[in-house]
Amino acid sequence: MQTDQRRTIGILTGGGDCPGLNAVIRAATKSAIHLGYQVLGFRKGFEGLADPVSTMPLTLENTFDILDRGGTILGSTNKGRFSAKIGKDDRRAIDPELLACVKRNLEELQIDGLICIGGDGSLSIAQQLFETGVPVVAVPKTIDNDLSCTAFTFGFDSAVACAANALDRLHTTAASHERIMVLEVMGRHTGWIALHAGLAGGGDVILIPEIPWSYENVCAKVIQRQQMGKLFTLVVVAEGAQLPSGEQVTLETVAKDRQTRLGGIGQTIASELQERLKTETRCVVLGHLQRGGTPTYFDRGLSTQFGAHAIRLIEERRFGEMVRYAPPDISSVPISHAIKQLSLVDPSGSAVQAARAMNVSFGDQSQFCNPFPASQVTAKTFVEQYDVTDLSELALDCDL
Ligand code: F6P
Repeated sequence: MQTDQRRTIGILTGGGDCPGLNAVIRAATKSAIHLGYQVLGFRKGFEGLADPVSTMPLTLENTFDILDRGGTILGSTNKGRFSAKIGKDDRRAIDPELLACVKRNLEELQIDGLICIGGDGSLSIAQQLFETGVPVVAVPKTIDNDLSCTAFTFGFDSAVACAANALDRLHTTAASHERIMVLEVMGRHTGWIALHAGLAGGGDVILIPEIPWSYENVCAKVIQRQQMGKLFTLVVVAEGAQLPSGEQVTLETVAKDRQTRLGGIGQTIASELQERLKTETRCVVLGHLQRGGTPTYFDRGLSTQFGAHAIRLIEERRFGEMVRYAPPDISSVPISHAIKQLSLVDPSGSAVQAARAMNVSFGDQSQFCNPFPASQVTAKTFVEQYDVTDLSELALDCDL
């Protein structure tokens, strides 16, 4: 039982870690303390809420130097009693007794508001706690950027920076050896990281779950580049992209309380391209490097705004809401809206159009085509409009 008369805010970080978690913890703690709250962190995600309750006080002292620190000082887990999400479209109900036990524990600790920082799995647990009567607010976290109702989740920009940096590095070695380099990036069932890293790092081929592709089209792109004197090609593939056969490449099928681990598609594609094109091909799997390390400045800023806004939601007693970035503002939406469906890359959205305008291949067509299908812009007017002088840069087979 708590004796301190100050109001108390609880904070937890659920699911896989990502850069910016500590920045949210710091921002929420600082703003809460300024308003006269005390702050209690729950350890190891939702696990710290029950049997046994595991907490640590969050103070100005122990959060003052964590703005740029990766990971989470509270710890986290993406498996166990509280895993509410197993597969792509699965949502599991948490044991009602466990939810009731959490509610009792939080009442005993006199928690006035609980901030749950997490991705779609963690926020679907947060929603269930809210429906049980726990005063919850949520902050959207994930490198995958797959939560709806927010332009960006924090962590995404850092993962993109990591993957784009890898492409920069692969560029020089690929060019030196005239190789095809395949970079496999994370993203779960979405292609956000692959698309944005591909744009920022100059990928030539981007393969994502949202756009079906074929080996023939990827090979055509490599050959097109070779005919233009570019004897190397950078392919970025999202771990969740499906092979042309429709198969998803997985590392292992794991226990009931865990999502299937995606991974391995990069090597499958590399082997096939080498075989078909007789060109040396290497695969690099970026893996958890995308999740570790210091957050980018954009993510630190976004995390800080998210953390501060979460306290505002608690002050205004707007429980059951998730903070979100709706540029240029930070606002909020019901958690239930954000977890209704995954946010997928729009195959006809502006980022894909821009990539196509750069003659990036998504493996779905073999030659340059008008990237702006909704408009009346022809390839010719496109060239004039954007002052592209070297037509061979655009395409060999293009009907200009
Ligand atoms: O959701 C974040 C993420 O990093 C995914 O991109 C990836 O598929 C998964 O988590 C890896 O999870 P784990 O921590 O279990 O390896």
